Amino acid sequence: MRARICGTGSCLPKLRVANDDLSKVVDTSDAWIRSRTGIAARHIVTDETTAGMALEAAKQALAEADMRPEELDLIIAASVSADRILPPLSCELQSGLGAVRASAYDLCAACSGFLFALNAAQAYIQSGMFQKILIVGAETLSKLVDWSDRSTCVLFGDGAGAAVVCADEEGVLATVQGSDGARGMVLACEGRPVNNPYVRHEAGNPYVQMNGQEVYRFAVRTVPASVQEALQKAGLAPEDISLFLLHQANRRIIEAVAKRLAQPPEKFPMCLEECGNMSAASVPVLLDRVNKEKKLKKGDKIVLAGFGAGLTWGCAVLVW
Ligand code: ACO
Repeated sequence: MRARICGTGSCLPKLRVANDDLSKVVDTSDAWIRSRTGIAARHIVTDETTAGMALEAAKQALAEADMRPEELDLIIAASVSADRILPPLSCELQSGLGAVRASAYDLCAACSGFLFALNAAQAYIQSGMFQKILIVGAETLSKLVDWSDRSTCVLFGDGAGAAVVCADEEGVLATVQGSDGARGMVLACEGRPVNNPYVRHEAGNPYVQMNGQEVYRFAVRTVPASVQEALQKAGLAPEDISLFLLHQANRRIIEAVAKRLAQPPEKFPMCLEECGNMSAASVPVLLDRVNKEKKLKKGDKIVLAGFGAGLTWGCAVLVW
């Protein structure tokens, strides 16, 4: 059996912050942000929470899949910005949904999180361990961003996306994923310091720090290579794919990947213009958008790809 996506959902905070609004917060401009990233606006939480957005996205995905929460076997929530360290976001989601039969865990793979969750769902389904799985990417990155650092705060947004994955004859055809921890510090966010009765460490920088050019080089090299590898495993060529849904970090990265795969830019839909980079939420929010816009037909072959901190990358080729 294969993992087939049978429902999607998404949720964005109501506050939309345009580039011009940000130029009142830091020394930046709409022209700089658009030309370097393609981002025009992002949504930022006010009274929303990571779990609340995840719950809304999950309810939509279950409704489309025509599935009751009690039918779920497993919930995987991918996030680097849950509301609290414990209990896990996935367990809050389980409680909010009333998915009483499901086990639930969180997965931390930054911007690749949703792909790692999908690939795990495929493995569980292939092994026969689970049949009905909810996967979610949900982020409140606005709390991890230094709002005085113009080189990072303009890039990110908050939101959540979800997919219900079911055991079926058709679905995921091939997966690829990888990590390169040796280069991890090009995109970092320090945790809490060790402070116990025996040792007292200074706190590191609690906000996202990034070497943008290194991340750019990593993305334009690794993403086309992992997509090619996954296509090869599936016995397909880029021409066989209707849509490539990539992590929404930056328009220039997506255009460079399209060029390296020799595919037209129209095959690479984007939501980054309105949402910014939502880490683990980017791919499922984009997937839900193209699904709701009826851009996917049954039988279409699509590619999903995530890449980001870790460094990590993940890719799946699937039949819709
Ligand atoms: N507004 C105006 N000026 C800015 C801003 C801003 N928001 N941010 C930086 N600048 C200035 C810098 O200070 C610098 O000025 P200087 O030349 O006087 O020193 C100048 O713009 C150029 O800065 P660079 O960092 O060299 O800009 P670059 O062209 O590399 O663009 C960017 C930065 C967009 C981050 C680019 O490196 C990139 O696309 N990186 C990919 C990484 C990415 O997208 N990360 C997202 C998170 S990671 C992920 O999701 C995978």
